[in-house]
Formats: sequence, structure tokens, C-alpha cells
Amino acid sequence: MDAPPIPAVETVGLTRQYGAMTALDSLNLTINQGDLFGFIGSNGAGKTTTLRILATFLAPSSGTARVLGHDVVQEADAVRHVIGYMPDFFGVYKDMEVTEYLDFFGACYKIPTLQREKTVADVLELVGLSEKKGAIIGALSRGMQQRLGLARVLIHDPKVLLLDEPASGLDPRARIEMMAILEELQRLGKTIIISSHILSELQTLCNRVAIIERGKLIYSGPVQGVRDQMSAGLIYWVTVHGDSTAAIALLKARPEVAEAVAVDGQVKVTFTSHEVDPSFLAEALVHGGIKFNGLWEDELGLEEVFLRVTKGDTQ
Ligand SMILES: Nc1ncnc2c1ncn2[C@@H]1O[C@H](COP(=O)(O)OP(=O)(O)OP(=O)(O)O)[C@@H](O)[C@H]1O
Ligand SMILES: [Mg+2]
Repeated sequence: MDAPPIPAVETVGLTRQYGAMTALDSLNLTINQGDLFGFIGSNGAGKTTTLRILATFLAPSSGTARVLGHDVVQEADAVRHVIGYMPDFFGVYKDMEVTEYLDFFGACYKIPTLQREKTVADVLELVGLSEKKGAIIGALSRGMQQRLGLARVLIHDPKVLLLDEPASGLDPRARIEMMAILEELQRLGKTIIISSHILSELQTLCNRVAIIERGKLIYSGPVQGVRDQMSAGLIYWVTVHGDSTAAIALLKARPEVAEAVAVDGQVKVTFTSHEVDPSFLAEALVHGGIKFNGLWEDELGLEEVFLRVTKGDTQ
């Protein structure tokens, strides 16, 4: 059997203290290559601290972190080669032209002059800024500046992108554009780690997420798993025509049903698990002679789930 591929990121007992304050508490996190990974937590949860450690800008107090197998402390240079780090706040040189700016960073990465022109054109194309190549940066919209920041971290063709809240402060349209670019980058084979304090924002974008709160990992896995972890079983609502007593009795007798109760004139049905096939529900009601005019799955909002998971704690 082949050896398993090296994880894009692996932290073991990663801890960071600021004085007596523990910002990151024994974080064990594995992110696979090719993931578009959401790193979620409310303000002060420790997202930026983690990303700065992975980007080699901040030393851990204890524990280890590896990026594509390279230790962030022992092999910081190797790590810097394979990552592109976009901080939450970054200065752009407002008086510079777009191309000049990217050419400057290309030179920092020692990309030869001849090749640089093509590299700059390529990354501008990727972030959809080709038409703005001669523009002064200060004249670009916030969304464009954010995309330029992304172009900058792509210049040395890194394998792993660490993006600290790249969509913050963007309007909905600019957000969607940013997300589309990230999906394209994932298709190109990059591993992308994106932080946010809004779980629902990353729900459709990311294949996996981690949630941290007060420096501790409280969930890591697929987005759907967050919801499953928070509720014991699938919930359905039934609007019964007339009295619901018979419907409740009938549903309670079913082995798939954990609970059936009347709530605000409707019947709330909680299944015993998330694996139950809900198709029996309508059939059972019809066979039981129950008249109903509504039947739908409870859509527990992801934000609601997130708030429950994190209990709204902020620091
Ligand atoms: N340089 C510092 N000195 C002291 N405390 C710090 C420092 N940087 C961060 N902290 C503290 O560490 C904790 C984690 O901060 P961090 O910036 O990593 O959180 P975050 O999840 O990125 O939050 P936000 O959503 O606000 O960006 C916070 O309580 C913060 O106040
Ligand atoms: Mg932060």
C-alpha cells in the first residue's frame, strides 16, 4: 500500500500564550492536500494566531505545526516557499500601479525578469484584474484591492494558501467573486485555508471546516457534521388538519420517531437519528387516515447551529 499523502497542515498540541493569556490551547488539526478548508471562530477565538504561526510569523509557545511536512520553526524557509499568506490587514502601496506592485513582489521571490511579466499577467488573469493592470492601486475598489492581495500571494505559485478573512468588508457581490476565485484555485490543485467568523459564508464553499473557540478546537470535519453533532436526529414539521392528537399518537408508535409533540399548532417530529429515511412519514399519516396539509424538514440555520456550538462566547 502507498504511504498516505503528507497533510497540507498538521498541528499537534499547538499552544500559544500571550503573557498569562492562552490564545491557542493544544490545537490538534489536520488539513489534507486539496482541501478548501474553513477555519471558523468568533472574535478572539485564535484564528489569526494559528495562521500567523503556520505562516512562520509567530512562534508557538509549545507543540508543533507542519506545513507539507516542514516544521514551521525548524524549517521556516521551506514553509515560506510553499505558502501564500494573506493577513487580515495588509497595506497596499496606494500610489503604485497594479503591475508594478506585483512585479515588485515577483522580484522579492527572485523570479527572473523575463518570466516575471508572464507570471504577473497570469495571476492578474486568475483574480480577474487583467483590465486593471495599469491602474493606480488607490483607485481600485475594496473588492479589487482584496483580489490584488490574493494575486500577490499567488506570485510564487504556493501550494498552500493561508487567507485570514479575505472576504471581510466586501459587499455580497465582491464576496461571491472572491469565493469563485477560491474555487478556481482549488481546481488548480491548491490547498486553501480560509478563516471567517461566519460559518454560513463558508458552508457551500468549503469541503471541511474546523471551529475553534477560546483557542480550543471544538469541531473538525465536513460542514454537514456540524449540524449532525448539534441535534440528535432529523426534525420534521407536520401541519395537521384539525386536531393533532391522533397524529401524535400514531407517530409516537413508530420506531423511527423519538418524539412527536404539538408546537404552535404544528407537530414537531424528531427522528431517532439522521440516517432515518423520512419517506415513511407521509405514508404513515395517509394510511392512518390523518389529514395534513404541510410536511417539511426543519432547516436548522447553520448560524444558529454555530451560535449553539460556540455558545456565543467571545473574548
Ligand atoms: N499580540 C498580542 N498580545 C496579546 N494578546 C493577543 C495578541 N494577539 C492576539 N491576542 C489575544 O489572543 C486571542 C486570540 O486572538 P486572535 O487574533 O488569534 O483571534 P481571531 O480569532 O483572529 O479573532 P478576530 O476574529 O477578532 O480576528 C485574543 O484574545 C486576543 O486578544
Ligand atoms: Mg483574526
